[in-house]
Amino acid sequence: LLLAIVQTNPQFASVDSNVRAALAPMEKAQADFYVLPELFNTGYNFTEMAEVEKLAEPAEGTTCKAMMEFSRRNSCYVVYGFAEKSNRLYNSSALVGPDGLIGVYRKVHLYYRENLFFAPGNLGFPIFDLPIGRVGMMICFDWFYPESARTLALRGAQLIAHPSNLVMPHCPDAMVTRCLENRVFAATSNRIGREHRGNTDLSFIGKSEIVSPRGEILKRLPESEEGIAVVDVNLSQASSKRLNEFNDLLGGR
Ligand code: ACM
Repeated sequence: LLLAIVQTNPQFASVDSNVRAALAPMEKAQADFYVLPELFNTGYNFTEMAEVEKLAEPAEGTTCKAMMEFSRRNSCYVVYGFAEKSNRLYNSSALVGPDGLIGVYRKVHLYYRENLFFAPGNLGFPIFDLPIGRVGMMICFDWFYPESARTLALRGAQLIAHPSNLVMPHCPDAMVTRCLENRVFAATSNRIGREHRGNTDLSFIGKSEIVSPRGEILKRLPESEEGIAVVDVNLSQASSKRLNEFNDLLGGR
């Protein structure tokens, strides 16, 4: 499976150009499965509710249509983060494939001022059984709660798609442990750049990465450049949780 991480620099509220800026490198780097950052189309640093209400889209909104068109044309899957307008507002990610929208995950563990604008996810941690393997999603700060990745692993995930907008430094190294302790692949796609809006000044740390079930960092992107990386992974390596003849990783809990 050709797995791609896409590291972008979203500009706040410039949805059309943010979507175009993400699709441009994807058009040039062929892959079977692409992961984009959290809130990649809107930007992150909302100052008031009215901005979220204006920029949020239903799951099958304009951004989804652009991603579905790309997936259909390239026979691939894409996971991307967006502000979801439903009965409430959620910090969500969507999984689309060649036949359209497959599913949505709503971020469970909201970080910092996200708590002012979004409702916590109410869909749990769903798994999607695709022809290419079993995939789950978590979003950014979910990494800080080992239960997120563990829940996905217990439900059979081979790959965790992890759209992110990281501001603290620890996640890229911590994902090595998340993958090791669950024997899963993870694709953490983070953004770069800075958003200083209102009194809140946030800088994002890049370092998007793909980590193997053995905790190897198969690829890590730089801290402050946009980019895309494609790694050929064998998702079946995440299927056996047996470490040796005595230790079954999940069975031994
Ligand atoms: C984060 O959850 N965006 C840090």
